[in-house]
Amino acid sequence: MIVRMFLMMLALVLAAPAMAQEKVASVSSPGNVLTVDITINGEGRVGYAVSRLGKPVIGESHVGFLLADGPQLLRNFVLTGQTRRSFDQSWEQPWGEWRTIRDRYNELAVGFAEKDKLKRRFTLVFRVYDNGIGFRYELPQQPNLNQVNITEELTQFRIVEPGEAWWSPAFESNREEYLYNRTPISGIATAQTPLTMRTASGTHIAIHEAALVDYSGMNVRQVEKGLLEAVLTYSAAGPKVARAAPFPTPWRVILITPDAPSLYAANSLILNLNAPNALGDVSWVKPMKYVGIWWGMHLDTQTWEAGPRHGATTANTMRMIDFAAKHGFKGVLVEGWNKGWEDWFATGDDFSFTEPYPDFDIAKITAYGHRKGVVLIGHHETSANVAHYESQLEAGLDLYQRLGIPAVKTGYVSDAGGVQMIGPDGRKIFEWHEGQRMARHHLKVVREAAKRHIAVNPHEPIKDTGLRRTYPNWVSREGQRGMEYNAWGEPKNPPEHEVNLVFTRMLAGPMDYTPGILSLIGKNNTQIPSTLARQLGLYVVLYSPIVMAADLPENYERNLRPFQFIKDVVVDWDDTRMLAGEVGDYAVIARKDRNSDNWFLGAIADEQERSFDVALSFLAPGRRYRAEIYRDGASADYRTNPRDIVIEQRMVTSGDRLAARIAPGGGTAVRFVALKR
Ligand code: NOJ
Ligand code: CA
Repeated sequence: MIVRMFLMMLALVLAAPAMAQEKVASVSSPGNVLTVDITINGEGRVGYAVSRLGKPVIGESHVGFLLADGPQLLRNFVLTGQTRRSFDQSWEQPWGEWRTIRDRYNELAVGFAEKDKLKRRFTLVFRVYDNGIGFRYELPQQPNLNQVNITEELTQFRIVEPGEAWWSPAFESNREEYLYNRTPISGIATAQTPLTMRTASGTHIAIHEAALVDYSGMNVRQVEKGLLEAVLTYSAAGPKVARAAPFPTPWRVILITPDAPSLYAANSLILNLNAPNALGDVSWVKPMKYVGIWWGMHLDTQTWEAGPRHGATTANTMRMIDFAAKHGFKGVLVEGWNKGWEDWFATGDDFSFTEPYPDFDIAKITAYGHRKGVVLIGHHETSANVAHYESQLEAGLDLYQRLGIPAVKTGYVSDAGGVQMIGPDGRKIFEWHEGQRMARHHLKVVREAAKRHIAVNPHEPIKDTGLRRTYPNWVSREGQRGMEYNAWGEPKNPPEHEVNLVFTRMLAGPMDYTPGILSLIGKNNTQIPSTLARQLGLYVVLYSPIVMAADLPENYERNLRPFQFIKDVVVDWDDTRMLAGEVGDYAVIARKDRNSDNWFLGAIADEQERSFDVALSFLAPGRRYRAEIYRDGASADYRTNPRDIVIEQRMVTSGDRLAARIAPGGGTAVRFVALKR
C-alpha cells in the first residue's frame, strides 16, 4: 500500500516537469522595477510573466496564433536565440503634453521555432520600462509561412490579483461609444482597450496597444477568472489579418504603476513604442482652439442639410468667423457645407467632398477668414462609406489645399460592422471600424492629407495607438462618448464618465471631446450633468492639441466671465503632471504652456463631493504668479445648482498650496500667470 502510494507520488512528480514551464529568458526594466520572464511549457507553448518589485502582476500567459490556412502556431516551440539591447534617449514632440519624452528601456528579443514538421519561426520582442512593457511578434520571411493569414491572435494577459476594472464593451453597435463598466476584474466580459484595472493591493494596470499599422485592432475577453485573451476585430472577408511576411504586429502594451497619477503619466510609453516622425518638417501642424457650426445641429435647432434651418450658410459662417476673430480663436469648423446630407444615415452614397451647397460660398468664406486671421476647418462625414469616400479623397483634399484649409474632421457614422468598403474580389463588403482594412484606410487619409499639409481629426475613428508620433498631422480623434451625448444622449454622460475617460481613453492619446457648453443645456432644454466650473476644467483635463469651444456664440456672449478662461487656456504644453487623482473618482492635472511661463490647472470629479489640496511646487521657484481661479461655489451641485461659480484671483508662489472643493459633478480651472520678475 505504502509502496503503491509512493510510486503514484513519484509518477506525479515525474509527470509534473513535462507540463510545467521552464524559464528560458528574463529581462528587467532599467530601474529594476518590472521583470519579464519568458517561459516554454511541456507542450512547447511560449509564455511570459511580469512581476513588479518581485511581486507577480501578470502570471504565465501564453502567446500564439490561429491561422486560416495552416496548423495553429501555438505549440511545439523551442528557443532559438536571444538578443538584448538597452536604450535611453529623449526626443521632442512637435506638439503635445510634454515637450521632451524620455524613452528608456531594456529590450529582449527571443526567437522561437517549431521543433519539427514545418519549423515555422517567430520572434517576441519585449521592451521593458519602469512603468510598463510593450511586446510584439515579428514574423520573419520563411518558406512555410510566407503569407500569414491570421484568424486569431491568442495573446493572453493573466491578471494575478483580484481587483476592480473599468472597461467598455467591444463589438457593440455604437462602436467605441459606451459608458465604462466598473466591475471586479473577474467581471470583465469582452472589452475594448485601453482597459484599466486596480488590484486589491493597489497596483494599477492598463492594457492597450501601440502602432496599430496594417493589422486588426485588439480587444480582450475573459476566458477564465483573471485570464484575458486577445480578440482581434472581425473581418468581413477573409482572415482577421492577411499579410506577407516579414512584418511585426502592433505592440501589446501593459502599463503597470503603483497609483493612478503614475498610470496617467505612463501613457507616453505608447508614444515611445511608435516609430519617429516620418513627415519631416511639421511646423505646418498648428495646435489651436476652434469654434464651429456644430452644436446647433446636435440641439436640432439647425440642420446639416440645406433648407430653412441650414447651419452652414455663408452668412452664418461669416458671423462665426467674426466671433472667432473677436475672441482669439484660430479655426471655424463647419459641418453640413457639402452636398449629400439629405439622407446621410442611410448609405452615404450622395456625399460630395468637392461641391458645397449653393448657400455656402466656400471661396468667399475662406478669403474672408484669411483677412481676419481665421482658418476654416474642413469636414468629411462619410457615413462610413469608405468606398465612396476613397473615390473622392484626393479631390476633396485638393480643394482644401487650394483654399488654405489646414485641417479636416472626418467622420465614420454607422453601426459597428457597417463600414462599406470594396472587398478582395471587387465587391462591396461591410467592415468593422477597427479592422485591418480600416487601419489601412486611416493611414491612407493621414498620408494624403500630410502631402497637402492638412491635419486630420477622425470621429468614429480607429482607436488611438500613438501614431501621432509617426504622423504628427494626426492631431486628434473622438473614439468614446463625447460632448454630443450631452445634447441628445440617453443617458447623457454622467459626471464619472469624463473622469473614467482620463484613466482609460485618454491613455491612448488626444480626444476631440468638444467641451465648453456654458449654457449647460442640451437638446429640448435638457440639463447637462455638469457645473459651470467643470466645463472649464475639462479644457485642461482632457488633452487635445485642437480643442473646440463647442457652445453657441450667444451662450458665450451671455457668460463672458467664465468664457474668459476658455479664451485664455492654451492647447500646447511643455509639461504635464497629474497632481492627484483616483480612477473613476477625480483628477487634478497641471500643465505648463509651451509658449510662456504660465501654468494651468484643471480638475474634475464624479457625482460625489470631493476636494483637493495640492502643493504648487511645480511653479518656478522664486517667481510670483497671479492665480485666476474658477471654482465651484459653496452650494454648487450638478443637479441642483450647476451655475454657482466663484471667480477670484490670488497671488501665489511655488511655496504655496491650492485647495478647493469640487462640487458633485463639478470641477476647477486655474490659470497661473507668471508676473514680470
Ligand atoms: C458624429 C460626430 O462625432 C459629430 O461630431 C458630428 O457632428 C456628426 N457625426 C456628423 O458628422
Ligand atoms: Ca461620434
